[in-house]
Amino acid sequence: MTARLIDGIALSQQLRKQVAARAQALRQRGVQPGLAVILVGDNPASQVYVRNKVKACEEAGFHSLLERYDASLSQPALLEHIARLNLDERIHGILVQLPLPDHIDAQRVIEAISPEKDVDGFHIASAGALMTGLPGFWPCTPYGCLKMLDSIGYDLKGKHAVVIGRSNIVGKPMALMLLQRNATVTVCHSGTQNLAHFTRQADVIVAAVGRRNVLTADMVKPGAVVLDVGMNRNDEGKLCGDVDFEGVRQVASYITPVPGGVGPMTITMLLINTLESAERVANLSS
Ligand code: GUN
Repeated sequence: MTARLIDGIALSQQLRKQVAARAQALRQRGVQPGLAVILVGDNPASQVYVRNKVKACEEAGFHSLLERYDASLSQPALLEHIARLNLDERIHGILVQLPLPDHIDAQRVIEAISPEKDVDGFHIASAGALMTGLPGFWPCTPYGCLKMLDSIGYDLKGKHAVVIGRSNIVGKPMALMLLQRNATVTVCHSGTQNLAHFTRQADVIVAAVGRRNVLTADMVKPGAVVLDVGMNRNDEGKLCGDVDFEGVRQVASYITPVPGGVGPMTITMLLINTLESAERVANLSS
């Protein structure tokens, strides 16, 4: 079997078109969705991510605000900027690009964002809402993975999903989303003994550890669906995921490529979260 690709670029284009249409409808009601992105310091990868987020906002007809600060910005000053954006009616989503410089407590900063504008879904209020099944913002990367499964019409009910990785940004929220869709979920991590024992039982595998070749063909049940969240560089400096793509594609039924898989979906889900935040405000004021 050669797996079919789940194309994150094509799916993103389709979803972003729908986002742009909904944003236009909102603008006609006098509300333009607005996202504020804060970048502290000059991490090169962060600069690229932030640029892509701002560009995607503009293409969708959003208002976007990029605030860049020197790496020496103090934590109290950053908290003040967030407090100002919390009160700014033109802004429906606030994103502080991570990582932050070492002298800043990232969790303290995330908790300063109003949960109503926490479009990254990193606030403990958002995490608690996901855990309890209440409405709230879902973290964009695992939410994008779920949309990719939806795009192939995959019904998770009763399926065994194995998540490799337990980060607050991907692994843990991914597990909760899969659970909410009635999958049986196993979370594996760096301390897991005999990872292949678990992955071989999986109908769906989400690899999100940030290490190349964590998943190879011999670890995958024929016909499984494989989602690759990794963003690594191979020996030639080319972007690659956590999955041995060439090997695993011979065994899986569906697989996401890197690049062009989960990556573009993260920004798409950020647009959707920001749009929905703006729609909530518009509905409250109408
Ligand atoms: N850094 C890497 N990924 C992300 C993300 O999804 N959101 C934020 N805020 N920072 C990041």
